[in-house]
Amino acid sequence: MTSNTIDTLLDSHQQAHTEDLIEWLRIPSVSSDPKAKKEVREAGQWVADLLRNAGLQTEWIETQGHPLVYATTPPVPGAPVALVYGHYDVQPPEPLDLWDSPAFEPDIRDGNIYARGATDDKGQVLTHVQAVLRLLETGQPLPLQIKFLIEGEEEVGSENLERMLPELADKLACDVVVISDSSQFAPGQPAITYGLRGITTFELKVFGPSQDLHSGSFGGAVMNPGIALSKLIASMINDDGQIQLPGFYDDVQPLTDEERQQFASLPFEDAEFARSLGVAKLAGEKGYTTLERKWARPTFDVNGLTCGHQGPGAKTIIPATASAKLSFRLVPNQDPQKIAEALEAHVAQHTPVGVTTKITPDHGAPGMVANLKSPFIAAAQTALEAAFGKPPVLIREGGSIPIVQKFQETLGADCLLLGWGLNDDNAHSPNEKFCLADYHRGIKASAHLWQQIGSLNQNR
Ligand code: BES
Ligand code: MN
Ligand code: MN
Repeated sequence: MTSNTIDTLLDSHQQAHTEDLIEWLRIPSVSSDPKAKKEVREAGQWVADLLRNAGLQTEWIETQGHPLVYATTPPVPGAPVALVYGHYDVQPPEPLDLWDSPAFEPDIRDGNIYARGATDDKGQVLTHVQAVLRLLETGQPLPLQIKFLIEGEEEVGSENLERMLPELADKLACDVVVISDSSQFAPGQPAITYGLRGITTFELKVFGPSQDLHSGSFGGAVMNPGIALSKLIASMINDDGQIQLPGFYDDVQPLTDEERQQFASLPFEDAEFARSLGVAKLAGEKGYTTLERKWARPTFDVNGLTCGHQGPGAKTIIPATASAKLSFRLVPNQDPQKIAEALEAHVAQHTPVGVTTKITPDHGAPGMVANLKSPFIAAAQTALEAAFGKPPVLIREGGSIPIVQKFQETLGADCLLLGWGLNDDNAHSPNEKFCLADYHRGIKASAHLWQQIGSLNQNR
């Protein structure tokens, strides 16, 4: 099929493609909510049904948590195998009152579809499903085998998939993993993302007196857990934005000059970026540009803080406890386990007298860099240019997709991260959206990608 025929075919299905997305987005598949178990399964079933009804060999794979959806088109001897990975689970919609339309009642305004999961990741993963379905409907055989693995636990760390990956390795065997769960560099400027950061998260709890105390009667006699926790947090990062845990930077791969030049060549304005985020000035590790800090340097963040009186007015107490949710974004080669040990050591050394602490580690995932010499990058460049009318730029991103590095390791496949989202899509935040034009361009790019990967093989 010529690329024009494909585009015309896909254009004629735009309405139906949008309606499908609306249906899927209505299902509140919040993986972290134990009460939403049924809805999470329903969202998995929805996409499994779509794939099965289109004739793909489809499997519903139970895990200790939310199920995996696997589907495949027939094998094509001698041709590459691609695995599309994505997730049907979403982040919680809270705070609900900040949404202009309800999170699970998709609403189209100004060419955007607003709903939790619109860009992360239902809208993006559906582009590949739609492209493959339309290509299959033409009755012509696909030039390659395409497998799908769509999971329900990405937003909670993919631990069950990680555990099962070795036993699934034969089923998932492939030459390239294609993932659309990230962003374009700028509106209309497509990107190939060749690096992601890793992550490791913790809860740090500080224990003081056995119950809240009157701060008049007891203030001055005991350590305040709120102050102790604040000091501990402050001790973890210095005024130059450098993380103070012992050995924290030991395994960090320094940015190469080449890479720094590549980042610097991308059109990016600090002032404009600051304005778009509602801050007067950007901040971060000294000696690095904003893109370097966001994409290729590790960071420390407080994600949540809880201590003492939260209600209206004053309440004069010394709270019994204080706690913080902490996260570190990691770069490739940093080991989440080592960071956990460094945090233990740092906290043990810096805990003020008069309180005790407890660290509860959550999941961790290493960062990744893709193989830039992969032949599939050239295929993606052609496909993205065909769909977006512009060649893609090479970027890294700061977010994490926990399973990606494990795919590289266990499947030995190249990873192709092709994001159709935008940086202002409000992922994980109120009023999450996905631009419908990008949804339709994503479907086209996907269809072109399969043609490209297929023909790339025939020329070998
Ligand atoms: N789609 C994101 C990952 C992402 C974000 C990639 C921004 C590129 C740019 C994914 O759904 C996500 O949110 N991941 C979590 C992982 C965590 C819950 C283990 C993240 O990065 O916080
Ligand atoms: Mn995602
Ligand atoms: Mn996410």
